[in-house]
Amino acid sequence: MTVIWSLSERTSVKIPVGRPYIILNAAMTLDGKIATKTGDSKISCTEDLQRVHKLRANVDAIMVGIRTVLIDDPKLTVRLVKGKNPLRVIVDSAARTPPNSKVLIENKGITTIIAVSERAPKERIETLKSVGATIVVAGTGKHVDLKLLMKKLHEMRINILMLEGGGTLNWAMLKEGLVDEIRVAVSPVIVGGENAVTLVEGEGISVVNKGIKLKLQAIEQYGEDLVLKYYVLNHLHWDVEG
Ligand SMILES: NC(=O)c1ccc[n+]([C@@H]2O[C@H](COP(=O)([O-])OP(=O)(O)OC[C@H]3O[C@@H](n4cnc5c(N)ncnc54)[C@H](OP(=O)(O)O)[C@@H]3O)[C@@H](O)[C@H]2O)c1
Repeated sequence: MTVIWSLSERTSVKIPVGRPYIILNAAMTLDGKIATKTGDSKISCTEDLQRVHKLRANVDAIMVGIRTVLIDDPKLTVRLVKGKNPLRVIVDSAARTPPNSKVLIENKGITTIIAVSERAPKERIETLKSVGATIVVAGTGKHVDLKLLMKKLHEMRINILMLEGGGTLNWAMLKEGLVDEIRVAVSPVIVGGENAVTLVEGEGISVVNKGIKLKLQAIEQYGEDLVLKYYVLNHLHWDVEG
């Protein structure tokens, strides 16, 4: 790893109260895609993947959205460096996680939490429990109540959480003011595609100056990828309609 630039002043990080400290990590192409139009998301180079696994080993939990599980079937474990495996959290309102997905059938020693809405079908919840999932019910709405989920995860002693996408969940977490840091690896490749998922999806913001403001923390190089690290500045004061 080569440090290209880093903040010279000491920055004190605000530790959130009542929820974990949340780091959004992703790998994207130069044109901002985190997967191609066919769902291929193998974007990071080997050196960056090692960075990601090291980060995983230093957090209490990794969290992804259900579509990432359905498309990628990831393991969400630490494999490329030595270190402990964090808990795995799937945000899955309707309990659609396949019972034979890798997060449930591989590495059974690691807790996998499936966060659902109260509306999730009971029989699917029972099936997921029968294959070892820990179910956390967060809210009664169509989607998981992310603020409530963060509170519940914090009560389960999750102090640092790594958000690993995809774009829809990234937006929802940013919109709720639930992201403290962003680390994004930019790979020197362009894939285009209007249906390819970008770093942040969702309904978006109309005016640039109402956007979520960031402060650059560092620029690092891992192999051929540039890793940009940012603090999220105004997430608590942001108004989505504004
Ligand atoms: N390159 C990278 O770093 C990287 C990392 C991760 C993923 N990816 C790629 O990203 C793609 C998937 O991204 P995606 O945007 O389609 O899906 P996603 O963000 O993985 O999952 C979105 C789903 O989360 C569920 N969800 C639950 N509560 C929610 C809430 N409060 N707000 C919003 N969503 C909520 C929704 O389904 P329910 O309503 O059914 O719960 C929603 O459809 C895949 O192709 C994957 O390969 C890339």
